[in-house]
Amino acid sequence: MEMRALITGASAGLGAEFARQLAADGFSLVLVARDEQRLRELADELADARGAEIEVLAADLTDAADLERVAARVADAGRPVDVLVNNAGFAVAQPFEASPIEDERRMHELLSWVPLRLAHAALPGMRSRRRGGILNVASLAGRMPSGSYAAAKAQLIVLSRSLHARYRRDGVTVTALLPGFVATEFHDRMGVSPDAVPEVAWADASAVVRDGLRGLRKRRGIVVSDWRYRLTAPIIPLVPDRLSAGFGISSRQAR
Ligand SMILES: NC(=O)c1ccc[n+]([C@@H]2O[C@H](COP(=O)([O-])OP(=O)(O)OC[C@H]3O[C@@H](n4cnc5c(N)ncnc54)[C@H](OP(=O)(O)O)[C@@H]3O)[C@@H](O)[C@H]2O)c1
Repeated sequence: MEMRALITGASAGLGAEFARQLAADGFSLVLVARDEQRLRELADELADARGAEIEVLAADLTDAADLERVAARVADAGRPVDVLVNNAGFAVAQPFEASPIEDERRMHELLSWVPLRLAHAALPGMRSRRRGGILNVASLAGRMPSGSYAAAKAQLIVLSRSLHARYRRDGVTVTALLPGFVATEFHDRMGVSPDAVPEVAWADASAVVRDGLRGLRKRRGIVVSDWRYRLTAPIIPLVPDRLSAGFGISSRQAR
C-alpha cells in the first residue's frame, strides 16, 4: 500500500532528515518550505536514490493564503496524507523586551497555529481511514518557562497530548517530539554561535528523527529525544522559574 508523508520545513535540518528517513522507509513525500530550489534539489536526490514519488509545495506557512493551500493538500482525499510532520520553525533571536513584535507573531503562528491548522485539516481523513500519524516537532523548551519560543512549544505539546488522547481509539496517533539542542541551521539562522552551547549538549539530527519516527510507530504521545535529555527531563520541573527564564535561547549570546 502506498504511504505518503507531508513534511513542513523540509528544506533543511530535521525536516530534510525526516524526508530522507521516510523515503528510505518507502514513503511518497510532499515537501513544504519557502525555499523551492532547496526542496527541488532534495526531491531530485531522493527520487534518484530511492525512486520515491515526491511533490514539492513551496509555501510561506506564516502567509494565510499559502497556509490554506497546504491545508487543502493535507485534506485532499484523492492523494491522502498518512503522516503529517509539523516541523517548520524558527526562534526570535532577541530577548522578549527587545524583539520586533512582528517576528514574535510569525514565530508564534509557525510553531503553534500552523500545526493546529494542519492537524485540523488532516484529522477527518485520517479518522475516516482509521489510520494516520501526526508528528509535532515541539521542544524540551516547551517544558520550561523560558520565553515566548518555549510558550509556543508548550501550546503545541498540550495540543498534541489532547489530540493523542482523543483520537488514538480512531487509529490516529499524535506524537510530540521533544528534542534538546540539535545540530541544524536553527541556531545559525538566529545568529547564535554554536559556542554558546556546550559541545556535549548537541544531539545529532538523524538520531532525533529516528527517535521521533520510532515513537510515532509505537504510538507514543510524547518522545523526549536523546538519552542525555531523557536523563535530564525529570529534573526540569524542579528548576526554579527565575533560572529557567534565563535559559531561553533568545537570551543566549548573539554573534
Ligand atoms: N535545532 C534545535 O536545537 C531544535 C531543538 C528543539 C526543537 N527544534 C525544532 O525543530 C524544528 C526544525 O528546526 P531545525 O532545527 O531543523 O531548524 P532549521 O535547520 O533552521 O530548519 C527550519 C526549517 O523550517 C522552515 N521554515 C522556516 N520558516 C518557515 C516558514 N515561514 N514557512 C515554511 N517553512 C519555514 C525552513 O525552510 P525555509 O527557510 O526554506 O522556509 C527550514 O526547512 C523547529 O520546529 C524547531 O523549533 C529545534
